[in-house]
Amino acid sequence: MKFFIDTANLEEIKEAYDLGILDGVTTNPSLMAKEGISGHENVLAHYRAICDIVDDNVSAEVIATDYEGMIQEGEELAALSPKIVVKIPMIKEGLKAIKYFAAKGIRTNCTLIFSAGQALLAAKAGAAFVSPFVGRLDDIGTDGTGLIAEIVEIYGNYGFETEILAASIRSSKHILECATIGADVITSPLKPITSLLNHPLTDKGLAQFLADHKKANGK
Ligand code: G3P
Repeated sequence: MKFFIDTANLEEIKEAYDLGILDGVTTNPSLMAKEGISGHENVLAHYRAICDIVDDNVSAEVIATDYEGMIQEGEELAALSPKIVVKIPMIKEGLKAIKYFAAKGIRTNCTLIFSAGQALLAAKAGAAFVSPFVGRLDDIGTDGTGLIAEIVEIYGNYGFETEILAASIRSSKHILECATIGADVITSPLKPITSLLNHPLTDKGLAQFLADHKKANGK
């Protein structure tokens, strides 16, 4: 299972990378705006900075929603680094763009997936990743991780190579549910990832070990 971090914050990306468990980064226009990154050249420079930190799998999203625009932007993004995965929205023109990039050997991440039908189309078009949004489905009272299970089953039926990248992760519980179901990748903010580290019995056990060592050694 791969772990991606869902942020454009360079410090958080470095922190997750230093943990030794990070396989990639996903960004989106909202996350870039949150970091105050604006203007074409600044955006490109920021993607380069992210690529300098991690080993692979940096999702960079196109802004255009027409086919020609997505191709132009996607090619420019892909030219930044072989680590770049061009993020394309799940719309009709996006599907065509995914097909185009697949034929050129450029990896894509089809984003804003909210149904199994959308995931099936993205896989058929040749997306390297699909991003179903777990938390946003939960937000509207539907079963986010249920969608992950549905896509796992469908892709398994036909051996699609598209990786299921569970996105819009809000908690460590989401991460574990996705792992249990068999998602290939989760992308999450830093906190749900680091929350996986914690258990009160670990803290209690370590305190006891250290106390016993001190008693026996006098230091
Ligand atoms: O990167 C897309 C996705 O992970 C967004 O998450 O929390 O804004 O629904 P969220």
